Amino acid sequence: MSEKEEKAIPIWETEVWKHLEENAKDIPSHHLRDLLNDKKRTSALQLKHDNIWVDMTRQNITSEGLNHLLKLAEKANIGNKIYDMYRGGIMNVTEDRKVLHIALRADKNDAHVHKAYASLDKEIQSVWAVLDKIKDFSERVRNGKFKGSTGKPLRNVISIGIGGSYLGVEFVYEALRNNAQASEHARDRHLRFFANIDPIAFGRATHGLDPEETLCVVVSKTFTTRETMMNALLCKEWLLTVLYKRRGKYIYKCTEKGLGQHLIAVTTNIKDAVKFGVLEENTFEFWDWVGGRYSVCSAVGVLPLSLHYGFATMHEFLKGANAIDKHFVDERDNLAKNIPAMLGLFGVWNSTFLKRSTRALIPYCEALCRFPAHVQQLDMESNGKSVAVDGTRLPFEAGEIDFGEPGRRHFENHCKQSSRTNVKLLCTGRCIGLWKRPKETEKENAINSVLAAHKTFAGNRPSTIILFDGALNAYNCGQLLSIYEHRTAIQGSIWQINSFDQWGVELGKVLGKKVRTSIDAFVTEKKLPTDYSQATLNSLQHYLT
Ligand code: F6P
Repeated sequence: MSEKEEKAIPIWETEVWKHLEENAKDIPSHHLRDLLNDKKRTSALQLKHDNIWVDMTRQNITSEGLNHLLKLAEKANIGNKIYDMYRGGIMNVTEDRKVLHIALRADKNDAHVHKAYASLDKEIQSVWAVLDKIKDFSERVRNGKFKGSTGKPLRNVISIGIGGSYLGVEFVYEALRNNAQASEHARDRHLRFFANIDPIAFGRATHGLDPEETLCVVVSKTFTTRETMMNALLCKEWLLTVLYKRRGKYIYKCTEKGLGQHLIAVTTNIKDAVKFGVLEENTFEFWDWVGGRYSVCSAVGVLPLSLHYGFATMHEFLKGANAIDKHFVDERDNLAKNIPAMLGLFGVWNSTFLKRSTRALIPYCEALCRFPAHVQQLDMESNGKSVAVDGTRLPFEAGEIDFGEPGRRHFENHCKQSSRTNVKLLCTGRCIGLWKRPKETEKENAINSVLAAHKTFAGNRPSTIILFDGALNAYNCGQLLSIYEHRTAIQGSIWQINSFDQWGVELGKVLGKKVRTSIDAFVTEKKLPTDYSQATLNSLQHYLT
């Protein structure tokens, strides 16, 4: 087949794809035990960049397979796609949007000093206008110049948001909570998250907080998400009730302006935020070219986290993400040395070719405890799709089931058992059991074959180790975020899907609204619509009675 003919066909019909399929069939005959002694392969699969060490030697791949995988990336035009994103191309074609989360952490001068950012000056300047506003606002709150409506300093922040407007922010909050410098900046301050639509979540978010000292941040790209809007209303009532009354006594009449001292918003929909009661000067915008799950570096994350840890800490975080963005684009023609790209290629290799449909992320650093939850949403909402960008149905399953939690708690044992899981470990050590078959079991086999069977693990499970020099801090937290965002995009590009839209979630929102409307109507009319299935009607009736 000529090069020209091949260009017109989907990636899964190319020669290199077929080579990889063939190669994957042969993988069971290559045990990691043997592959790990191949010097050339080892040096190709251990990458060092700056303060980061990535060891991919324990992936079930031969040197030949690796060559094919890199050729697949070439065939999928990955280098140019990376560059297109930085040049402001419409990467999110189904929503007709640019994809520019990289502009959120660009340095003010990047458009003038780094070629890849040359077309982004306008976006970078808008980003910095908001960042400067966040810096000024968070400093005024933190030094007590911006006070609550009864004159008390605002020591507490409740961040109200869901999904992409919550998970990544909580990951960074947890990651920095024990960092000596960041925690010093957060002394005597509280940051809480209110995401779930459940009275217990509300109770937890507000427990022990004095509303007079509390600032509620409504974080919603659309400002229409039902759960967030209901939770924001609940917080508004909580603020108003207590600001009006204290211990049953009327003490203070809260004006609209007064409420505005306790309620601020991060959104692309400033109009509705103002309607809701937020003062326009206390709204913080972002843009339609930032997807919800890629929005941690916008005001979504930087505002609440700057209120808590101070802007300087968050600036370090942005610098870390920016450093990886530059590595990602600078190495676009040398993907074998490109950390996010290599991790993405192995994602495709494991899930599509080796049919390992689950992937665990196991941070050994306890402070990264909420990172797996963020990556789960980032990846699954981005790549859990069944059609290609051009609408063709994919002939394979795209996207893994991501899960994980800190290692050493109990976790790697579970992964040892599962033959369909591949693992990323952030830190040292305990992955040996994933790939190695212990010798002792062979001896035991002769003595007690039943027990030996229980104690025998096949090994040969793939894993990757990622190590960072030094303690976890804001800078390497930003690096980590960026690595995983780009990994997700690489996988989507290879699969030829759009990693930046979320039509499935939108459908869920529409269906959710319908159910809610039916429930509200039931309260007044005592009957449910007839166009539900019998099973749904039964469940609704059970719930309502
Ligand atoms: O989780 C689904 C989702 O659509 C995310 O993409 C988004 O970040 C989240 O809901 C919240 O949406 P919004 O920020 O508009 O409230």
